[in-house]
Amino acid sequence: MNVKTSPFPKSQALFERAQNSVAGGVNSGIRKLEVPVPLYFSHGRGGRLYDVDGNEYIDFQCGQGAILYGHAPEGMADAIAAQARLGLHWAAQSELEIEVAERLQKMIPSAERVRFNSSATEVVIAAFRIARAHTGKRLILRFEGHYHGWGDEGLVGFAAPADKWGEEEEPARLHPSAGIISEVTEQFVVARWNDVEHLRRRVAQYHGQIAAIVFEPCGCNTSCIEPVPGLLEAIRELCDAEGALMIADETITGFRFGAGCAQSFYGVSPDLTVLGKAIGGGVPFAALVGKERFFETVMSGRVVHAGTLNGNPLCLAASKWCLDAVLALGPGHPEALVALGKELMEGLSGLAQRYGIPMVPQGPGQVFHCTMLKPGAETGVVRSYRDYVKRHDAPRWAHLRRCLLLHKVRAIERGLWFLSLAHTKADVAEALERAEPAFAQHAAEWPAV
Ligand SMILES: Cc1ncc(COP(=O)(O)O)c(C=O)c1O
Repeated sequence: MNVKTSPFPKSQALFERAQNSVAGGVNSGIRKLEVPVPLYFSHGRGGRLYDVDGNEYIDFQCGQGAILYGHAPEGMADAIAAQARLGLHWAAQSELEIEVAERLQKMIPSAERVRFNSSATEVVIAAFRIARAHTGKRLILRFEGHYHGWGDEGLVGFAAPADKWGEEEEPARLHPSAGIISEVTEQFVVARWNDVEHLRRRVAQYHGQIAAIVFEPCGCNTSCIEPVPGLLEAIRELCDAEGALMIADETITGFRFGAGCAQSFYGVSPDLTVLGKAIGGGVPFAALVGKERFFETVMSGRVVHAGTLNGNPLCLAASKWCLDAVLALGPGHPEALVALGKELMEGLSGLAQRYGIPMVPQGPGQVFHCTMLKPGAETGVVRSYRDYVKRHDAPRWAHLRRCLLLHKVRAIERGLWFLSLAHTKADVAEALERAEPAFAQHAAEWPAV
């Protein structure tokens, strides 16, 4: 990159400096995908984010979804500061943890009991362990394209490359990382999302061996793929018939889809739910919630659940503020967020049409994804991971995202957009004004040579 003409010289210099200390210059692999350079930020406020070069972005990356309340909401900063003055961490109990647990019970009908952790990856570990201990069975059934954290177990069958997919009926249970315990893949059954009959056949094939079915209620880690009618009900029915646990991974959807999360939005009742991101609004906080009987193995100590920082008062103070903010929105939430997101989706679609760019936003609104169709690809809603890989032109999206970044609109590296409660109609209108020259630039420069 030419530093003289780049709007990111300080980020570039910091990224180069980081190479000598931070391994690879980033602290999470996906951040390397930001082009032309992973950006360094100085501060944020509401729906805006400011980098060290003084660029101001309208931010729809929203801390990968955690920043549901916008950047640095004042009340939250005060709540955290007040707690910080009283103490950061006691590795012991506090009334705050009961207050947060009671709020979760009030908001989520299936949340009869609660345990806290610091990341959703840890909560997934706990959920799988509980499912196996409770049922005495071994296998976890999961869906292609759904992400459940970066642990050995969370990533099996997540996003296999197309040449290793395996048969339609028998999706491969590959792991994308080196260094895992190889037998871990054998503890999983992978199924395709949004094909109820295929799912029934997968469960029948492993009858009597399935401890749990885990899923993202809306598949936000591959495109933004909502469940087809009847799918979540079929998962419930199959879990009941098999004596398996239904585990909803609501790390992204939690509180973004309403106080009752996506399970209330779609009308299902899982046994265990993984919560992360928006439960902490940007602090490292996560929770496992679910029906009391499934916590018996934890309560008896048969299943080990631990963590030095679990339920630390600093994160609890933040979470209490976040949950109160959601509760204050009343039963109408997420209507306003959905409407604002739809406005942005429609505006982006309009720009795509104007500039002849084959880009199709999809999703409920409060979160959505922009699919860039490959030449000749079918239009219409993306229904599954395989469908997505076949139709989405990832390099083309990366180019458009880069153009958007240059015009100070920030979406997620892989095509997802999050709305926050701090975004206003004026933010959306301004984002679309900024996006117009970005679309024009993309249309002029693509296909890139
Ligand atoms: C659905 C889902 N589950 C689990 C995780 C893991 O969360 P964390 O990064 O907090 O460990 C993520 C993270 O993006 C996620 O999207």
